[in-house]
Amino acid sequence: MKLSVSILDAVDKLKSVEMLNHTDISYIHVDVMDGKFVPKVSFFDVKEVRKIDFSSNKKLDIHLMVEHPMEYLEKLLKDKSCRHIEYITFHLEIKDDIEKVIHYIKDKGYKVGLAIKPDSNVWAIEKYLSMIDMVLVMGVEPGYGGQKFMISTSDKMKEVMDCIGNRNVLIEVDGGITDQSINYVKGADIVVSGSYVVKSDDYELSIFKLINHI
Ligand code: DX5
Ligand code: ZN
Repeated sequence: MKLSVSILDAVDKLKSVEMLNHTDISYIHVDVMDGKFVPKVSFFDVKEVRKIDFSSNKKLDIHLMVEHPMEYLEKLLKDKSCRHIEYITFHLEIKDDIEKVIHYIKDKGYKVGLAIKPDSNVWAIEKYLSMIDMVLVMGVEPGYGGQKFMISTSDKMKEVMDCIGNRNVLIEVDGGITDQSINYVKGADIVVSGSYVVKSDDYELSIFKLINHI
């Protein structure tokens, strides 16, 4: 299990990245919000993502909570200035054509994730599983950091595992992860934690506690 830390709730995001650079995490999770798919706006200006990419020595795991990923990605990936991006994940409920977005991301050389919300129908992802690298299972309703983990996520995760079967597709869980709730997501390949780490006084210790539970 790998750990990805969301900097959404960090007071100073660049400073947070610099601190995370020296830790044992595998990814920095960048939550992009357009103010439409979810009420908040974050990292919607691609320049902000470029700054994070430039300051990071960790790989980036981009989570798009936007209605139109195509428009956003065309801007973000226009020049090849982002060198740390590994995963680009978007939601099943977007307003663009899902297959078109999957192929766009793959053609640019990145790994693709498809995200599901707590009330999404898991089996709707089945027809895309042969084209993607990862399924992101939300542990909260997307939109805000610092929410309480929904216990039902465990069942959702098991359902996703059944749906994936023996295909080579990873599972990422995102939202509400602390040193307690992490016990409910055993079996996930990547776990995202945000406020538990970036709102703590001691990043190293919080990360150590999470990794110890993994
Ligand atoms: C929620 C975001 C999550 C979130 C994680 O919409 O996708 O990545 O910020 O933060 P915590 O761990 O605080 O829920
Ligand atoms: Zn996220």
